[in-house]
Amino acid sequence: MSIILLGPPGAGKGTQAKILEKKRGYVQLSTGDMLRNAVSEGSDLGNKAKEIMNKGEFVPDEIMVGIISEKIKSLGKANFILDGFPRTEGQAVALEKLLKIRSRSLFAVIELKVDDDLLIERVTGRFTCSECGAVYNDSFKVPKNLGVCDFCGNTHFSRRSDDSREVMENRLGVYHKHTAPLLEFYENRGLLRSVDGMSSSEEVEIQISGILDDKIAAKG
Ligand code: AP5
Repeated sequence: MSIILLGPPGAGKGTQAKILEKKRGYVQLSTGDMLRNAVSEGSDLGNKAKEIMNKGEFVPDEIMVGIISEKIKSLGKANFILDGFPRTEGQAVALEKLLKIRSRSLFAVIELKVDDDLLIERVTGRFTCSECGAVYNDSFKVPKNLGVCDFCGNTHFSRRSDDSREVMENRLGVYHKHTAPLLEFYENRGLLRSVDGMSSSEEVEIQISGILDDKIAAKG
C-alpha cells in the first residue's frame, strides 16, 4: 500500500505519518528528514541541500526522485507513507513511473487542509526532542513535564533553522505555486481525499483512519 500525505508546511504530515507508522506498521518516507540527515552528516547532498532548505526553496527534482526511488526499491513490498514527496508535477509523474516499474500503484492521496495563518503559528512554535525526534509545539503540544521528553525522558530539544517566520512565508509561497496544483492532478486520477487538518491531532488521525479503512473494505 502506498499513501501520500499532501499538504503545506506545518499541516501535520509528519505527525500523522508517525502515528500511522506506530499504529499500522506503515513505513514513513519523509524527504525532509532524509535531507536533514544528509545535512547533519555533511555529505555532498547535505551541503547542496542546506542552503536551499534554509531559503525555503525546493531541492531539484532529479535529486529528490533519485533519493525516493532508492528508498522505495529497498522497501520491497512493505506499505509506506510519503511525507513531503511529491512536491512538483515532475516528481508526481516520476513517482507514477517508478511505482509502475515495481508493479505497484498509489492507494490514496490524503490532503491535510489548514489555513496559512495557523500554519505559521504551528511551524514557528515547533520543537523536537534531540534524542528520539518526538515533535512538540509551544502553543499546541508541550511535554507533560516541561523540559522533559514524554517518550524518552531526554531534556534536550532543537528547532529547525527553516522554521523562522520569514523562511516559512517563502515555503508557503513555494507550496502554493508548485505543490498545490498536485491536488487537481490527484483529483483527476480519483485518488484525492481531504481531511480537516485544523482539528486536533487526534481528530485528524480518526479522519485519516476512516478514509483508509473505507478504502481497504471497498477493495475487499
Ligand atoms: P519538510 O521537512 O518536508 O517540511 P515541510 O513540508 O515544510 O513540512 P513540515 O515538516 O514543516 O510540516 P508537517 O506537515 O510535517 O507538520 P508537522 O507534523 O511537523 O521539508 C523541508 C525542506 O526540505 C523543504 O522546504 C525543501 O527545501 C526540502 N524538501 C523536502 N522534500 C522535498 C521534495 N520532495 N522536493 C524538493 N525539496 C524538498 O507539524 C508541525 C507543527 O504543528 C508541530 O509542532 C506539531 O506538533 C503541530 N501540529 C501538527 N498537527 C497538529 C494539529 N492537528 N493541531 C495542532 N498542532 C499540530
